[in-house]
Order: sequence, then structure tokens, then C-alpha cells
Amino acid sequence: MSEKTKRINISDIRAHKGKPKPLVCLTAYTAPMAARLDAHTDLLLVGDSVGMALYGMDNTLKVDLEMMVRHGQAVMRRADTSCVVIDMPFGTYEESPELAYRNAAHIMRETGCDGVKLEGGVDLAPTIQYLTSRKIPVMGHIGLMPQSVLKEGGYRVKGKTPESEAQLMEDARAIEEAGAFAFVLEGTVDSVSQKITKESGVPVIGIGASAACDGQILVTEDMLGLLDGHTPKFAKQYAQLGDAISEAAAQYKAEVQERSFPSDEYLYHRPKVVSSDKKKA
Ligand code: KIV
Repeated sequence: MSEKTKRINISDIRAHKGKPKPLVCLTAYTAPMAARLDAHTDLLLVGDSVGMALYGMDNTLKVDLEMMVRHGQAVMRRADTSCVVIDMPFGTYEESPELAYRNAAHIMRETGCDGVKLEGGVDLAPTIQYLTSRKIPVMGHIGLMPQSVLKEGGYRVKGKTPESEAQLMEDARAIEEAGAFAFVLEGTVDSVSQKITKESGVPVIGIGASAACDGQILVTEDMLGLLDGHTPKFAKQYAQLGDAISEAAAQYKAEVQERSFPSDEYLYHRPKVVSSDKKKA
């Protein structure tokens, strides 16, 4: 999107379909991170990846609604111009459209965010339709769906076979028809991602998908090199902040142990008392 002069809303995102400049999207879970990213992004996603990135969980399945609300509120305090979307965590929308509505409305009411995101294709289209026809803006998420990690026995790249491609095309069509204003396409082979982007009428936000998508998103902690452990192939690191933290902690330790910290400039002293004789003179 061009220079931002006002807060980007859902209509702006939807209207971005097919524009030459892709949408710039990142995850954010905290106020200071939102403040740093906001000037550079069109959309900030309070993703359920918070469970892994901030809480050290193995996957996203233990993330709950109140975590999403708290992190959503924090991001909303500092995201002045980016559109903010919040993930609906596992178990808060699959059971019925009514439950999904109650939880989506709770997230939106408590945070003031612009919309919610949920994972699922054809199977979740009736729920998306239920929400969008009741004033809840929904972003879809198809392809590799992290909340299905246990069901699928791992994180599996999609679109490798004609059957998988056909399923993805159906999923994309179904959630668009159900009213999703955009959708994330994750972990899907490039050629299929290009096809989906070409055929869909709403913005497709890629992560491990294709440079041809209408936008790109990454988990911020991944792209800053803040996480230890496995990094997915698609997560390019634009900085190595994890190394910077280790170096800073090591330097602090050395200075504390040799008593060179705190040096005088970091200490408080009593104000110098000027004697009354000196004052008269
Ligand atoms: O939870 C998340 O961060 C996401 C992105 C990977 C799209 O869903």
C-alpha cells in the first residue's frame, strides 16, 4: 500500500486485490513490537503462533481465547495505522457457528480489532458465512494449517499432488464465497499458490507460498532471528537479534562480575550542599 495517512481497514485490504505492490503483513503480540512495526506494515496479525514464539509451547493448540484477547489489546494500543486481525485459537470456533460467533464477537468487543482469522477451507465455509453475515470480518487460512499438526502428524507442505491442488482450489473458492475478505495461504507449492492467487477474487497473503501472492506475512520473531529451534524454510531472517541478546547478556555479566557496572554515570548522588557563607559572597 502507498504511504499511510490513516488507519487501514478491511475494505482497504479487500480493495488491494491484484494491485502491483503486495500487502506487507507481520505478526505482533506486544505493544512495543506493534509500535516498531506499525509504520512498515499494512496488516498486523496477532497470531496464535504467540504460543510458540512467546510462551515456548510446542505448537499452537494450547493457546486460549484470553491469551489472544490480552495480546490483541496490547497490539491495539500501539498499532496506529495498520489493520489488526486476531487469530481464533484452536477449539474456539470448530464446534458450531454459534460458538464461533460468540468467541469472535468477544475478541472484537474486548480488543477493538478489525477482524478475526480462522483456519479451514470447505469444512469451515458455513462458519465463515455465519460470521460474515453477522458483521464479523473474517480472514481465512488454508494450505498448511498449524492447528491441524497433530491430525496430520506434522507440518505438511500442500499442493504437491493434483488431488491436493484440487482440494486447495475448492477451499479457496468456498471461503471466498462465504465472505472472507482475504486469506492466508501457508506452506503451498509455488505454482499452485500462483494459480490460487490468480483465480481468487480476494487478496491472498502468502507464507511459504509464492512471490506472486497479493501480500506476504512472516512471524516477526522468526524474521528477526529471535527464536531458537527449528525455523521453517520460508522464514527468511532479516536480523539476528537472538545473537545480539546473547552478546549483550554476556557483556553485562562480565561488567557486573568485575564491578565496572554500575559506573558513576549510572548512580545517584546527594545534591552538593552550598554553605550559607558561600551564598552571601
Ligand atoms: O499464527 C500465525 O502467526 C499465523 C501466521 C503464520 C499466518 O497464522
